[in-house]
Amino acid sequence: MKISVLGISGSPHRHGNTETLLDSFLDGAKAAGALVEKVVLKDLDYAPCRGCNACHKTGECVVKDDAIVLFDRVLKADCLAIASPIYTMGITAELKGFIDRGQYLWARKFIFKTLYFTDNHIKRHKGLFVSTAGQNWDHVFDGAFPMVTAIFNGTGFEYYDNIIANNMDEYKGIRNHPTAMKEAFEKGQKVVAVIGKLNAPK
Ligand SMILES: Cc1cc2nc3c(=O)[nH]c(=O)nc-3n(C[C@H](O)[C@H](O)[C@H](O)COP(=O)(O)O)c2cc1C
Repeated sequence: MKISVLGISGSPHRHGNTETLLDSFLDGAKAAGALVEKVVLKDLDYAPCRGCNACHKTGECVVKDDAIVLFDRVLKADCLAIASPIYTMGITAELKGFIDRGQYLWARKFIFKTLYFTDNHIKRHKGLFVSTAGQNWDHVFDGAFPMVTAIFNGTGFEYYDNIIANNMDEYKGIRNHPTAMKEAFEKGQKVVAVIGKLNAPK
């Protein structure tokens, strides 16, 4: 069976720096033989978490919209690439809104104990964070990492790698960055090879 790679773009800017970098990663994964899908959060219809805590009583989210359908897809993927530009030192509202909607999975894990990922499962499921930022600060991505860690932990992925490029203001776009696009393509190829090896019959 082909390795499945799901890319989720949290940028509201279609075909901007972040989605373009994600595309390069996905192209690399496809070139390595994976089945690749991209979802653009901006095109989906989902509401932010209401904080009603109904999921703490049932393990289900009462809001039936595209977020729930996407979490089902996330749980089936072998590799998950979460992409967001840095907005005000963090992730975009689109991505944060989606991540918060995973609270029902938290309830299944920690209240109902019906959702559990073995160490072996986590090792075979790789998560990558794809991001771009305008500033050249080294720490510009730091605010995003804990939220990305949270969604990978909540959905059974090992936080495997980052594909990040800062200083977009000076480069005037990701395509002018000297290394990022090539690096993203190569990381796509590599992660598929790594998962393939982990899943190979012994
Ligand atoms: C609302 C908004 C907030 C931003 N905040 C930051 C920031 O805090 N730090 C930074 O380095 N860049 C910031 N940027 C710049 C973007 O991170 C950068 O231009 C990025 O490459 C945009 O990616 P995109 O083309 O996918 O939208 C911000 C841009 C916008 C529109």
